[in-house]
Amino acid sequence: MIECKGKIAVLTSGGDAPGMNAAVRAVVRTGIAKGYEVFGVRRGYNGILNKEMELLTFHDVSEKLQHGGTFLFTARSAEFGKEEGKQKAAEICREFGIDTLVVIGGDGSFKGARDLSKYGVNVIGIPGTIDLDIAYTEYTIGFDTAVNTAMEAIDRLRETSNSHERCSVVEVMGRSAGYIALWCGIANGAEGILLPEKFNNDYEQLIEVIKKNRESGMTHQVIVNAEGIGHSHSLAKRIEEATGIETRATILGHLQRGGSPTARDRVYASVMGSYAVDIIDQGKKNRLVGYKDGSVYDVDIKEAFEMQKGIDDYEYKVANILGTRSEYKKV
Ligand code: F6P
Repeated sequence: MIECKGKIAVLTSGGDAPGMNAAVRAVVRTGIAKGYEVFGVRRGYNGILNKEMELLTFHDVSEKLQHGGTFLFTARSAEFGKEEGKQKAAEICREFGIDTLVVIGGDGSFKGARDLSKYGVNVIGIPGTIDLDIAYTEYTIGFDTAVNTAMEAIDRLRETSNSHERCSVVEVMGRSAGYIALWCGIANGAEGILLPEKFNNDYEQLIEVIKKNRESGMTHQVIVNAEGIGHSHSLAKRIEEATGIETRATILGHLQRGGSPTARDRVYASVMGSYAVDIIDQGKKNRLVGYKDGSVYDVDIKEAFEMQKGIDDYEYKVANILGTRSEYKKV
């Protein structure tokens, strides 16, 4: 009989991402293997405030790995957003004897974790967001599945767009991050990409390119528009009016967040989940787990927030060069 080394709680927070279940499973199983009790918290930070925590066994996380979503449920908690909410959450963690809270989520969830750590709770973060927009890590759980889902959907759109010789504006997720749009831009060979980090509102130039593409014999075109730019229906109307090319808008929306995680999402989520427990076992405090130069690593949570991330200029250039005849657009 292994002596209990301590209590770990794990939660998923913010927008769900395929692979979150794999990460929870890894935290639970590695935790048990190393002699910890692991509690699953339901509905993100709300679950702490509402004391929705239960001890998880090895079998409780069976048959979860291959499913998208999060079996712990997720939420964006208004109460936890307030200072009193964090204070209350810390008190409840103490009441339950929770030594460490593992938070699987995005930037917003990590800000909550960082602020909770000021009240004495040890927090460890695992990046889970389809947006890939967390500066300290090259990889976030869910991006790979989401971008493949979007890519397949855009392939389908291109087929119908081709048959009707139309232009297709397709909106992919990413309120303030254009990584899904950038990757689909390259993977789907889009004729145009609009990213929140890069787009300068020069719709005239976009329309000019679409016109010239058509004149040069392109029968159909796909413009990938990030959610952060939005207004896809009015953009489609504007393109149609200015170019005379029939144009339709499609908003892929939340379907990009569902689906069985890819091997990459399952594997990276599992590695980061196990690694989170390893660093807890080493006595590390207030760290975020991520990938750097292709390997799993951890960084101080406060340092992580000082890091900046932008769209890779070279990838952006590649997307533009490959999708649009270079004589029409200087990049
Ligand atoms: O952060 C993930 C994400 O899917 C973003 O791409 C998107 O802007 C946002 O969540 C949508 O949030 P909600 O599901 O609350 O509408």
